[in-house]
Order: sequence, then structure tokens, then C-alpha cells
Amino acid sequence: MEEGARVPDRVNAIREVLGYLGRYRGEVFVIKIDDSLLEEPLFPLLIRDVVLLHRMGIKVVIVPGARRSIDATLAAAGRTSAYHAGVRITTEDDLDHAMTAASRVSNHVLSLISENGAQAVSGNWVRARTLGVIGGVDYQRTGRIERVNVPLVEKLLGEGVIPLVSNIGWNAVGKAYNLSSTELAVAVGTAMKATKLFLIGTEPGIPAAGTPIPGTRVRQSGIYSNMDITRVGELLAKNGALDHEHRVLVENAVAACRGGVKRVHILDGRQNGILLEEIFSVSGSGTMLYTNLYTDLCPATVEDVPEIIRLIQPYVRQELLVRRTPEAIADNIAHWVVYKVDDAIRGCAALTPYDMENAELEALVVDEDHRCGGTGTRIVNFLLDRAHELGMKRVFALTTQTSDFFLEHGFEEVPVEALPEAKRRRYNKARNSRVLAIELADRSARQG
Ligand SMILES: CC(C)(COP(=O)(O)OP(=O)(O)OC[C@H]1O[C@@H](n2cnc3c(N)ncnc32)[C@H](O)[C@@H]1OP(=O)(O)O)[C@@H](O)C(=O)NCCC(=O)NCCS
Repeated sequence: MEEGARVPDRVNAIREVLGYLGRYRGEVFVIKIDDSLLEEPLFPLLIRDVVLLHRMGIKVVIVPGARRSIDATLAAAGRTSAYHAGVRITTEDDLDHAMTAASRVSNHVLSLISENGAQAVSGNWVRARTLGVIGGVDYQRTGRIERVNVPLVEKLLGEGVIPLVSNIGWNAVGKAYNLSSTELAVAVGTAMKATKLFLIGTEPGIPAAGTPIPGTRVRQSGIYSNMDITRVGELLAKNGALDHEHRVLVENAVAACRGGVKRVHILDGRQNGILLEEIFSVSGSGTMLYTNLYTDLCPATVEDVPEIIRLIQPYVRQELLVRRTPEAIADNIAHWVVYKVDDAIRGCAALTPYDMENAELEALVVDEDHRCGGTGTRIVNFLLDRAHELGMKRVFALTTQTSDFFLEHGFEEVPVEALPEAKRRRYNKARNSRVLAIELADRSARQG
């Protein structure tokens, strides 16, 4: 390429960000920020980045943590909290201190938000009740979250205001309780069906001590890069793999995902730009936990071959799919995935590698009774994820009548010549299928 024609890195970075922007505008991000970061030199920059997200049209809700500030306020009054099973016991006398500390933290964040020209409000949107007496231990004014007033929070977001949800909640008769801000962030994320929940503190992520859990990715720094929550059980069961702090983070992340939050990110807020990097770059920096949306998709076995044949046969007759013998399917059964409802196969497809970098998504079918519910999309995404994990660069699809479906899923039409040599030689000119392809690096960049 000529020197003058080179695209500066900056332009590529802007493209990457713009790609994500369309995707996240109007979606809810809940950001829990530990107050241990308050005195960090880069804390104002972190808040500035949060305001930037808000300006981009992302619905940002902030949950400030107050643990450290409560401890400091109590210490200044010559008091210390007792903890049981990692939970603070807030005495009647301690509650005032907890409320003072929570309001000081909120005010600090509010000031920084104002400095950046945005509006934020802190309010009593959380209904709480007593944690009560558990195992003989009376937690006094430590509470649990009963519900979050979602319509009110939504209304504020609609008005362009950043809601700040502090860790004090009230019961129906106005009695205040001290809440865990991490649990609060989970409750807010769940109630609002947040796309992302960020737990920002001083932990860079979840450490992968010893042998990492299979099916997960580990960064060079030794922390998990991402983890499907179905794998978390193995991590929690592994003796000594996690200390108390990490265990609490993981358990809360899992609770959020089970409650409907799509992704939970654990980040070290002391690193400059960590939030933006996590959102707007392919690799991110912390640990991301996510819900596996593919539990009803599973690898096919040779026992599934007759059902697969039954499923694809009508479309072979309509010339939508090429004919396959049971033997050909059985020989390559490892490439196939099936969608099961009550143990019956209602959908299928195969990801067939051409070489180390290129594969083909083939024989995608969803039974007519199960169409238009997003299953075709999930099968495609599942196989594209699998291709990505296998280190593939691009996936092709050859189709006579379904090109629009693939175009809507990020594929682009390419000439037959774009196919790898070996496949090109086998291309059936009489069938004259359209050739579509998707670059997996571009797809990851769009997904975040
Ligand atoms: C293509 C197919 C797998 C989609 O399955 P699905 O579970 O209905 O897919 P989803 O629910 O994720 O997506 C449905 C969307 O795809 C669209 N769609 C389905 N078939 C389409 C086609 N041939 N061309 C363009 N769009 C199509 C639907 O109209 C629907 O659009 P909407 O979301 O705007 O309403 C299914 O229609 C099918 O099995 N078709 C017959 C076999 C076939 O053509 N396979 C592809 C061979 S290359």
C-alpha cells in the first residue's frame, strides 16, 4: 500500500468506537465504583469517562460503594464494625455514621459529574428491609434489597440525568438500612435488565491460579479474560482458587447474569481509561462474566444423524441445501450442532473448516414451528463464536435463497474467487450459489 494511502491508527480506533456506539446507544450500563478509588489520582478521569458514556447516549446508572468511607467515619468516632460471614453488622448507633459516609461519597461523585457538565441525582429509589437475625446473629440496621423503583430511575435517565443509587435503603415506613453496594449494583442491574454491569474497584479481575478452568480464556497477566457463568461452579468448587473478595465478586456477577444482566465486567479503576478500553476494544482488560445463551444448542452425535437428515430433507428438495448422505454427516459429526427442544432436534447447522483460517457455515435449518424466535441467529452466533475460538479468521456461507438472512447477520457478499483454492475448485457452477463471508475480527469488534 502507498504511504499516503495508509490509514492512521487513530482512524481505525475511531471506526472501532463508532462501531460499538450504534450498538450501545440507549442501553443500560450499571457502574459500581468502590470508594477505595476516591483518593486515587485518576479517579476524576474515571468519572469523566462515565460522563462520556452518558453523553454518547448510554443510560448510565452509578452505584457508589461506601465501605471504606464508613470504616473511616466510624474510626474517627472511635468505633469499629463487627463483621459476620463478610457482612457488616450495622448497629443502631453506627447507622448515622454509615449514612454520613454514604452521602459524603455520593457528594464527591456528584461534584465530579457536575465538573464535567452533566447532571446527576442521588435519591431514595431502593426499598429495603432488615437482614434480620441469621444463624443467631442479629445484623441490626444492615438491610437487604427488596426492590428498585425502576420507573423512576428510567424517568431520570429519560430526562438525561445520571441516577446515583447510594447504599442506604428505606423500608415502607421510612426506616433506613445500610446495604451492600455490590448487592445493590446487582439488584439495580437485574431490575433494569442492564446490558452491562461494571464492578470497578482495585482488583484487575479474577485470578486464574493453578490450572485454569477449561473453556475459559486467561490473560498474560494471569487473570481470566472471560468466563461463561456455567463454568463458575467449577471455579468456586476448586479449593483455594479464590480468596473471599474474589469469591464475593464472582458470586455477585453470577447473580447478576442469572437475573438477566448480559455481561458483568470486573475492572481495576486505578488504570487510566480502563472503562473505555473494556467497552470499546476487542480484548478489553478485566474479567468479563457472561450468560451462556446457547444451553439448548449442543454438539451432534451419530445418533442424531437420522433426525438431521429428516430436518434438512425438505430443503434439499427445494434446492435450498445440498444433498448429504448419512455417512457424510456421520463422518463429520464433530462439525455439527443441533438445537433441541424437549430432547427433539428442531434445528441444526455445521461449521466445516476448509483450512486453519477459513470455515463454512453449512446446512442451517430451523424447524418451521420454531422459526422467528431468534434460534437461527443463535445457531449462527454460536458457530461464529466457535470459529473464533478455533482461531479462524473468516467464515463463509454459500446460499441460493437465504443471502438476506446472512447479510443481516454481518456477512457480506464476496466473489467466488474469495473462497480458498480447494473449495473454489469444488464450487458447483450449476448450483450458482451466492458466496457470503464474515471477518471474525470485525465481528468481535462490533460485539464488545
Ligand atoms: C434461515 C432460518 C434458519 C432462520 O431461522 P429462524 O430461527 O427463523 O431465525 P431467527 O428467528 O434468528 O431470525 C428470523 C429472521 O430471519 C428472517 N429470515 C428467515 N428466512 C430468511 C430468508 N430466507 N431470507 C431473509 N431473511 C430470512 C425472518 O424473516 C426473520 O426476520 P425478522 O427478525 O425481521 O422478523 C430458517 O428460516 C430456515 O430454516 N430456513 C430454511 C432453510 C434455509 O434457508 N437455510 C439456509 C441455508 S443456507
